[in-house]
Amino acid sequence: MKPIRFLHISDTHLGPDKYFIQHKVNTYEAFSQFLKAVKTLPFTPDFIVHTGDITADCYEEGYRLVASMIQDLKIPMYFVTGNHDTSKLIKSYLPMRHIQVLSEKLNCYRFSFGDNHFLTVDGRGHDEIDPHGVINTEQMDILKKELKAGKMLTLFIHFSPIPYDSTWFDQNMLLTNGQEFHELLVAHKRQIRGVFFGHIHRSTQIFQDGILYSGVGSTSIQFIVHPWQKMPIFESIGYGYFNIVTLEKNRITIKESSFGNGQEIFIQTK
Ligand SMILES: [Fe+2]
Ligand SMILES: [Fe+2]
Repeated sequence: MKPIRFLHISDTHLGPDKYFIQHKVNTYEAFSQFLKAVKTLPFTPDFIVHTGDITADCYEEGYRLVASMIQDLKIPMYFVTGNHDTSKLIKSYLPMRHIQVLSEKLNCYRFSFGDNHFLTVDGRGHDEIDPHGVINTEQMDILKKELKAGKMLTLFIHFSPIPYDSTWFDQNMLLTNGQEFHELLVAHKRQIRGVFFGHIHRSTQIFQDGILYSGVGSTSIQFIVHPWQKMPIFESIGYGYFNIVTLEKNRITIKESSFGNGQEIFIQTK
């Protein structure tokens, strides 16, 4: 199998204009610096996947901004719905190439490279459960059907399905039916290459029951997530992050990369 290399990014949190600041970070500037960093890479990734929170609060203008920023990008880019997104706006402003749409309403689709299938899952629930996510029955059925096809499957979702050893994160930020999702994957673990997620704003790897889960830092603001922590703590140290993922026949390599995101140092102490 020819290696498949992709960039995993998440949580760009763009606002309604270029001047939007969140937690003392200009998120437009940070995403601009990411795109510059992509141009300096000594290789061309097969694609870039963004695992959600494209905007900071479903800002329509934020999707327009992203669309204009990536219009000259030669690399296919795929978007997942975060809790600060709406699938409708993603579908309207960020059309994706060569995908098989699996749900008319939700942002759930598949794309493929050779025998490897890539599936995005739309975990955004009703506003009442935010910032938790949920996988509805329609998508559970889609996932079961996709697994039956027998291909190797890599999944992209905004929310972590399983706990993260942090009181605040585990009580507020997980998929409400993550255990059911995890058990389904475990039953097909020979087919599952990994589950890539965002929401956590921090590079994270968890290996549970034979399933690899990998979270990525944000291009703009990071979370600090210690085990005892009861409230979110934000951090910007002037860097944004993305992961370089290489899929080979018997191996997955995940390398964190950083880039100067043009921001001042800001660490919330409590
Ligand atoms: Fe986020
Ligand atoms: Fe999120």
